[in-house]
Amino acid sequence: MARVVPITPANVAEGARALRAGQLVAFPTETVYGLGADACDDRAVAAIFAAKDRPHFNPLIVHVPDRATAERLVVFNDLARRLTDRLWPGALTLVLPRRPDCPLSLLVSAGLETAAVRVPAHEGALALLRAADTPVAAPSANLSGTLSPTTAAHVASALGDRVAMILDGGPCAIGLESTVLDLSGRAPAILRPGGVTAEVLTAMLGTEVAVSTEADSDGAPRSPGMLASHYAPRLPVRLGTRSAEPGEALLGFGPDADDATLNLSASGDLLEAAANLFACLHKLDDSRYQAIAVMPIPDEGLGRAINDRLRRAAAEKPPSP
Ligand code: TXA
Ligand code: MG
Repeated sequence: MARVVPITPANVAEGARALRAGQLVAFPTETVYGLGADACDDRAVAAIFAAKDRPHFNPLIVHVPDRATAERLVVFNDLARRLTDRLWPGALTLVLPRRPDCPLSLLVSAGLETAAVRVPAHEGALALLRAADTPVAAPSANLSGTLSPTTAAHVASALGDRVAMILDGGPCAIGLESTVLDLSGRAPAILRPGGVTAEVLTAMLGTEVAVSTEADSDGAPRSPGMLASHYAPRLPVRLGTRSAEPGEALLGFGPDADDATLNLSASGDLLEAAANLFACLHKLDDSRYQAIAVMPIPDEGLGRAINDRLRRAAAEKPPSP
C-alpha cells in the first residue's frame, strides 16, 4: 500500500521527486483529489490510464502553478486572459490549442491538438507543482466509472496499491470537479459543468456560454462531430494484420515484428505501447505511405484503450475504394 502522508513541505518535496522520477502521486486540490504524473513523460502519463483502468484514452487536465507556466504550453486568447485574471487559481479548466513547441505528452491530449490546463486553488497542490517544476497531468484519483475522491482515504481504498504516495490535505473544499471550458473553437463551450457555473462565466464574458450537449457526464466526446476533432491519421488504417501490403507502413507490436516500420513496443509492453501510440501514428501518417497497417495488440489492460483508439482511427477514415 502507498504511504498516506500529510501534505507538509518535506512530503511535498518527496512527492515532487517521485513525480520527476516518473511515478504517480495522488494529491489534494480544492475540487477533488488528483492522480498526478509528469505531463511531459509519455510513460508516466500512460501509467495514469493503467492505474485508472480506463478502457479508452480521455484527454487529461494539466495542472500548473501559475498562468505564465500555462502560457508556455497552450496559446492563450483574450477571453482566456480575461477569465483567468479573475478565476485562477480556481475550479476552471481551459481547453486551448497546444503551442507548436508544446512539451506536453501527446497522450495527455489523447491525440488532440488542444490541451486542458488549470491552476488549482490549493496551497499544498501549488507547492507540489512549484517543487515538481514540470506540468502535472491529473485526472480525479478514482477508478474509471466510480465516484470522485474527496478525501485521502477514498484515494487509498481505490488506488492505494497503484501510486507511489498519497498526500493528505484533508477533505476537498469544493468536492466537485472543475468546469471544463473549451476556448479553442469559434464560441466558448462548457464541456463539463463543475465548480464554476455557466452563469458566472456568462456574466464575465458578457455572452451566453453554452453547455455542450455533445459530451457525456465525464466530458468524453460522444457525437460524431466531436469525434471528428479527435486525432485520426489522414491515411487509412488497417487493423490486426501481421504484414503490410506494398505502399503500407506497418506499425508493429512485440518481438515478432522484423518488418515493422515502427514498433509500439519491441518487448510487447503495453505501457510502453500506450506511451508511444500517438507519436508513432503521427510519424507514419506521411505521404510516403498509402495506408497504415497495424499488428494485433492484446485486448487486455492498456491494450483495450490502445485498441479503442485504433478502431476509431480506422473507422473515421475508411479506406478509399
Ligand atoms: O477538478 C478537476 O478538474 C480534477 C482535479 C484533480 O483537478 N481533475 C479532473 O481531471 O477531473 P480529469 O482528467 O478527470 O478530467 C478531464 C476532463 C474530461 O472531461 C476531459 O474530457 C476534459 O477534461 N478534457 C481534457 N483535455 C481536453 C481537451 N484537450 N479537449 C477537450 N476536453 C478535454
Ligand atoms: Mg474523473
